Amino acid sequence: MTHDVYTLPPNLPVPQDDGAADHLLGLELPDLVLESSLGPVNVHDVDVLYVYPRTGRPDRPLLPGWDETPGARGCTPQSCAFRDAHGELQALGVRVAGLSAQPLEEQQEFAERNRIPFPVNRAVLLRGQERFNVYCSPCHGRLGNGLGMIVRRGLKRPPSYHIDRLRQVPVGYFYDVITNGFGAMPDYAMQIAPRDRWSVAAYIRVLQYSQDDSINDVPAEMRAELPSPNAPAAQGPKQ
Ligand code: HEC
Repeated sequence: MTHDVYTLPPNLPVPQDDGAADHLLGLELPDLVLESSLGPVNVHDVDVLYVYPRTGRPDRPLLPGWDETPGARGCTPQSCAFRDAHGELQALGVRVAGLSAQPLEEQQEFAERNRIPFPVNRAVLLRGQERFNVYCSPCHGRLGNGLGMIVRRGLKRPPSYHIDRLRQVPVGYFYDVITNGFGAMPDYAMQIAPRDRWSVAAYIRVLQYSQDDSINDVPAEMRAELPSPNAPAAQGPKQ
């Protein structure tokens, strides 16, 4: 059973403001740390905390009566709208988090499924590869093993992408490291546009697949383009 969670059916009932939340105006959010698809988040630190009941999954039927409940349907389009405005909000220094009653595992599924806002196809991966080789490989190496040119000249060595911890992070994590930097690594938000960040993130996942049994998950025509695991460990970008 599949259904479209991304578009709203016509004639949804409109919620009415009964004023029950009026007293919240001007109040501060408490110091409260919650798990999220990107690790723990303190709600006190965000500027926009939007609350929604639950996001649907295309592979599961809607709850009975969902569309008839005012305000219930629309969580996925709402979250996607925040996602699409993410770069703009971030440029303004606005931090956004979404809060729903779903278990973390479902939210991770949702985040992973939606965070790459376009189909991952060969063109996207090749673009990701090209950007990766320009911006990331000098330190991370073409294979993502952390042995790039600059590192060999004495800069701090980044972790290999092929360690278990980084294999297990959602693709969105790479997007966030590019956007915000990580530890000793600067961010690349100015150099790499949001769409290209997703391409690079997707390409990193492919690099990870290429180094283990999941190589079969990589589209055949992309496999030929990947660096060979036996290639010299460190190569600078082609200039
Ligand atoms: C100037 C060198 C340099 C460049 C260029 C660079 N990184 Fe890094 N990266 C590092 C270092 C150093 C670390 C480890 C930072 C630390 O642990 O303090 C790191 C860590 C990471 C991590 C792992 C974070 C974690 O959880 O351990 C990811 C993912 C990553 N970089 C992605 C990228 C991507 C994608 C690019 C290209 C857009 C990139 N890096 C460009 C140096 C670099």
